[in-house]
Parts: sequence; C-alpha cells; structure tokens
Amino acid sequence: MTSTATPSVTPYGTLPPSSTPSTRKPLSLPRLREMHTQGEKIAMLTAYDATFAAVADAAGVECILVGDSLGMVCQGLSSTVGVSLETMRHHTECVANGLRRSHATAWLIGDLPFGSYHESKEQALRSAVVLMQAGAHMVKLEGGGWTTETVRFLVERGIPVCAHLGLTPRTVHALGGYRVQGKTDEAAAQLRREAIALQDAGAAMLVLEMVPAALSAELTQQLTHCPTIGIGAGNGTSGQVLVLHDMLGLNDRFAAKFVKRYAKLADDVREAARLFAAEVREGRYPGPEHSFEK
Ligand code: KIV
Repeated sequence: MTSTATPSVTPYGTLPPSSTPSTRKPLSLPRLREMHTQGEKIAMLTAYDATFAAVADAAGVECILVGDSLGMVCQGLSSTVGVSLETMRHHTECVANGLRRSHATAWLIGDLPFGSYHESKEQALRSAVVLMQAGAHMVKLEGGGWTTETVRFLVERGIPVCAHLGLTPRTVHALGGYRVQGKTDEAAAQLRREAIALQDAGAAMLVLEMVPAALSAELTQQLTHCPTIGIGAGNGTSGQVLVLHDMLGLNDRFAAKFVKRYAKLADDVREAARLFAAEVREGRYPGPEHSFEK
C-alpha cells in the first residue's frame, strides 16, 4: 500500500524542524496574565518565517511577534513606515504555518503596520481580521491617545490587542529619531495616562520601547491586568522582547544599547558561505557522499 502521508522531508530546503508535541500547554491570555501577576517573566522574540518561528517555540519562548521590524530585517527598508498590510499578512501566515507544523504552543502576535488602522476603527477592524485570519492570536498597534478607542473597538469584537508605547518606530519621523521616551516629567505623565487608558480599553499586553527603567517598572506595577513587555525598558517589566536577527548577531554592524547578542551568526553564515564557495570552485563539493550513483 502506498502511503498518502505528507512527506516530512522535501528535497528542497528545510521544512520547519519538527519537534515532538510539547509538554507545555498552548499559551493563552489568562496564562500570560497569570505569569504577570505571579512575577514569572515572559519571553518574546520576533520571527518572520516558519523555520525560525518553530525553532524559537521549541526553545520555549512564550510569545512570537511578527513585527513590522521585518521591514528592515527582511525587506531592507530604512524604517517600518513602508511595510504594507499584505506583507504583514504573508509573514504572519508563514509563521503560523511553521508553528502549526511543529506542534508549537507559542502565542502569536501580528503587528498592524503603518496606515492600516489610522483612518478609522472600522479600517483597524478590517486590518486586524486579515492578520487574525492569517493565524495571529493577537494584533499589536503602536501609539496612545487616539488609539485607545480603536483598542476598545477591537477588544469588544473579540480581538486581543497588544498596545505599544514609548518609542513607536512608525512615528520615527514625528519623534525626530530613535530616542528614549518619557524622560521629562511631562512626557512620563503622558505615558502613564496613555498606558492606563489602554489597559482600561482592554489592551491585554503592552510593549514599552526605549522607556527609562524606573518608569517601566512603575507602570508594570500599576497595570495589574496588562503584562508589559520591555525592549530597552529595563528589567522591571513583565517580560522582554528582542528582534530575533539582532539577538542572533545576524546584524553585526549596528546594535542599539539594549540589544544583547546571544550568538554571532553573521560570522558563522559568512564562514559557511565562504567555505561552500571555495569547495565549489575547487571541485570538492559535492563529494561522493552527496551524489547519487544511479
Ligand atoms: O516590529 C517589531 O519587531 C516590534 C518590536 C521591536 C517590539 O515592534
């Protein structure tokens, strides 16, 4: 009898590494909130494709963010402003496929890009539906103040929302650069007001980017039912997020102060590619072990 099962190996490239079904229960909003209230830290990494998503999940990170940082990481743009909703949909789907194939349990967040929720709450809903149908469990949107009613509108319609305050890269041109936010008393007070309003509107998570550590820690204590995820926001938040390619050392030219490189993959990739090219030129690859006899 011939098998009709989907082969787990293709001759081209790699499918997301299959892992044995996790002993961890799928992450959920109640579980993430419980982690926040019990002081258990939440780890979040970005991923933009199936393979990296599966690897990050297998490593035990709780949340995977398909961030619009993919504009820089995958598209080579100079900011996130040029990232479209269709691009976000595509990468969200790739990550969701990877997680599904590898029995993953991580909580998947899709980032609503610039211009996809700014016109109206209805536009935000339509954009959020696109990412949710691509496999996201939650959408993220940047900004406070005017976004509060948008968050409420989405949450009331059953869409979990992660807010994002502090440095909001989509407004980099308005902010005048990638700078620490909330440094003056006035700016800190505004950040506090916006964070509380977002929590009250139903935001179930809040990314704090480039915010002074003491202010982030204070906000984390105040937001009793909204875990905070810091990036350049010190150690007092409920969890931390990093851009995967930065923490893997794939970008070896520049790193922001808050980035810790846990690997030096740019060196490894360069060396592997150099060796491959040399072996091809010298006729040493493929050897007999990589060739078919018949
Ligand atoms: O787009 C992104 O990757 C992000 C994180 C840096 C928080 O928003």
